[in-house]
Amino acid sequence: MNHLVPELEAAAARWHAAGHPAPDVVLVAGSGLSVDLPGTRRGAEPLADWLPFPVRSVAGHAHALERIETPAGRQVVYLRGRLHGYQGYTPAEVVFPLRLAARLGARTLLMTNAAGGIRPEWPAGTLAAIADQINFTGSSPLHGEPPAGWGPRFPDMSAAYAPALRELARQHAAQLGFELPEGVYAGMPGPAYETPAEVRMLRTLGADLVGMSTVHEVIAARHMGLRCLVLSLVANPAAGVVDAPLHHDEVLEAGRAASGRLAALLTALLGDPRLNEPD
Ligand code: HPA
Repeated sequence: MNHLVPELEAAAARWHAAGHPAPDVVLVAGSGLSVDLPGTRRGAEPLADWLPFPVRSVAGHAHALERIETPAGRQVVYLRGRLHGYQGYTPAEVVFPLRLAARLGARTLLMTNAAGGIRPEWPAGTLAAIADQINFTGSSPLHGEPPAGWGPRFPDMSAAYAPALRELARQHAAQLGFELPEGVYAGMPGPAYETPAEVRMLRTLGADLVGMSTVHEVIAARHMGLRCLVLSLVANPAAGVVDAPLHHDEVLEAGRAASGRLAALLTALLGDPRLNEPD
């Protein structure tokens, strides 16, 4: 796989030449979950301006790179609209913006995604923190030879979703008046939603949430030493959990309905000095 190393270095050099500050946090917003955040907007550009390959759009997914300074002075690279493998991007392309932010200095990855809920007790609209993942895509952004300087050849994934950040998120959610249950996320290739048989398999194998993103980003982030916190919105019960067909519109609508809670939680987290502490 082409890891786009010279392209990444060129983008990093362009960032520095523009005088942009080094980011502390990279925030990736999932499908229909691109909420506005408080702070000073230092700039917003089409994501395409930072990528060495063309961007293909999906309904409901904006693609912008925003630079935000939080009221506490934290520098955030906010990637609004992510790239998905099912759009034809290679895993290295999917993680390019994230790797750029890591290369520029970000130490924490905060992400959101929309997922199918495998647990019947989690209705659409439930927000959950991911505790662990299963990569069912059959691929990895570490296939081939990423530069040795980016991270270890065989990165440890045993605490990929930082326990301290999950606890922080749980505490903030409680203060905001809602629970934040935790679950295992299964990353599937998509773009077809799963069959009921696949969802039964995933449940048997220990998954609580299913989606078409996230797992490659978390692998790339852990490879580069970032701490990860990922919030999943249960956009719909996964196939077969209730007797109803799945529609992308339903996923987008659930995102709109949860955006207040999500924005409040992200705001609280970005304002918490513990977000960027080393483990
Ligand atoms: N399956 C996979 N991805 C999803 C789903 C789902 O049910 N809902 C939102 N993203």
